[in-house]
Amino acid sequence: MFDVTDVQGNILRGYRQPRVRHLILAVADATEARSWLGATVSGAGSVPQVTSQAPWDEKPSVCFNIGLTFEGLRALGAASSSLASFPTEFVEGMTARAEKLGDIGDSAPEHWPAPFDKPRDVHLIASIYAKDVADLDRVQGQALQNGRAFRLLGVREGFNFHGDYVHFGYHDNISQPRFAEIHDPADYPDPQPMAPLGTVLLGYPNNFEGLLWRVPDPVALGRNGTFNAFRVLAQDVVGFESYLTEAAKYLLTQRGVDELLPPGDEGKIGPGLSREAALREIVAAQMCGRWRNGVPLAKSPDTPYPEPPLPEEQLNNFDYPAASGCPYSSHIRRSNPRDAQIVQRVANNSRRLVRRGMPYGPPYDPDKPDAADAPERGLLGNFIGASLGAQFEAMCTDWVNVGLQDPRVTGSNDPLIGANARETGWFDVVLKSGNTFRLRSLPRFVRTRGGAYTFLPSISAIRYLGSLGK
Ligand code: HEM
Repeated sequence: MFDVTDVQGNILRGYRQPRVRHLILAVADATEARSWLGATVSGAGSVPQVTSQAPWDEKPSVCFNIGLTFEGLRALGAASSSLASFPTEFVEGMTARAEKLGDIGDSAPEHWPAPFDKPRDVHLIASIYAKDVADLDRVQGQALQNGRAFRLLGVREGFNFHGDYVHFGYHDNISQPRFAEIHDPADYPDPQPMAPLGTVLLGYPNNFEGLLWRVPDPVALGRNGTFNAFRVLAQDVVGFESYLTEAAKYLLTQRGVDELLPPGDEGKIGPGLSREAALREIVAAQMCGRWRNGVPLAKSPDTPYPEPPLPEEQLNNFDYPAASGCPYSSHIRRSNPRDAQIVQRVANNSRRLVRRGMPYGPPYDPDKPDAADAPERGLLGNFIGASLGAQFEAMCTDWVNVGLQDPRVTGSNDPLIGANARETGWFDVVLKSGNTFRLRSLPRFVRTRGGAYTFLPSISAIRYLGSLGK
């Protein structure tokens, strides 16, 4: 029997809280840390209580969740037989998998700032979700009150922009996998197949026929848990916006650009836009697969403002038929090919990830260019799935980077988030006729600045960890 109340929150249901603070912690005293863990699921209020998937009538004002690295499980005293039952990629940790993830060049772990420069010290990430900083401060104080259980290695803090926009100016958080056991299909009028629960929780069938991900030992620890790739991804907004200008200027020199943007259609892209400005938006839309306002190219290839307007609940109602207006190379088509024919046919729906992220750093204001010492900005991303190797890593390795899913994009990387470099990066803007304009000298816009693979234990597993050694 599946018991939703045993699953940590923010996995099957997003919180939509305005702010997050991730506390990056090292276990200082294993006994104290274990009793702290036990206390987080005890129902007594001495430490923050872990939020579960239990239904709520009213959203709590603060939510609290934890993830443990492999080193964290070891520091807590998990048995060696139990540690040996975790999958290799989790055991090795994110930094050991850098090349697979495209963490190369200045994204390589040796350039990550503290606390991610000492990955073996990162044991636990405690995440507080709340509406304001005062609540974050209060819960952080409560979490670390004891002073003996953990050392605070660092903090990463993010906040939601109005309307779920993220740096680069796109509306995000539209497409998420839905689960038959949790979501009523009637509430989601789109053709996306419901994901089996085992896509995101250990112990249940997934999309691979007859294959179950190994539930780490003992079952009390592994079942109803899942894995998370926590990523600190810096975004070069200035570089992105100036590349759009560069691309638009180039397109204006190309014969055939009128097929991409018929003269006089600039107003369809946005009120009062110049030809160059309209082409910039077309390139931005093709790179993502959605116009910046979230309208998918698959449904509205010519304008971000279709008439009649697309209601919010229709923004995910599409697939990729052969003549789709969405480029094969776009970020959303790479990371979820939906029903499209791809080389790894069996993988179409098996790599789906739950995404829970929030921007960090100030929104970019084009009227106030950044000072040299301007704070970094980007995304604090959680990419959650039952198998880091078969989902997150497979997506990064052969779809986001390399582009193995379709011979027309093989050899290119995701235009928004891929490990591109000026010397080699390219992206094909697709025309209705199927012809393409190749944009070259595509640089890297998203740089990795830290992260960790964590295990998100169930509520009963947190209780189990709390009782170790007793
Ligand atoms: C700073 C980095 C990133 C930015 C700015 C970004 C931006 C976006 C945007 C604007 C969307 C469209 C909104 C939606 O469909 O919900 C999207 C969707 C998505 N992204 Fe990202 N993303 C980033 C990193 C990543 C990473 C690292 C991955 C995984 C390796 C990823 C996987 C996905 C997936 C699976 C979707 C949903 C696609 C679909 O179901 O159609 N993204 N992203």
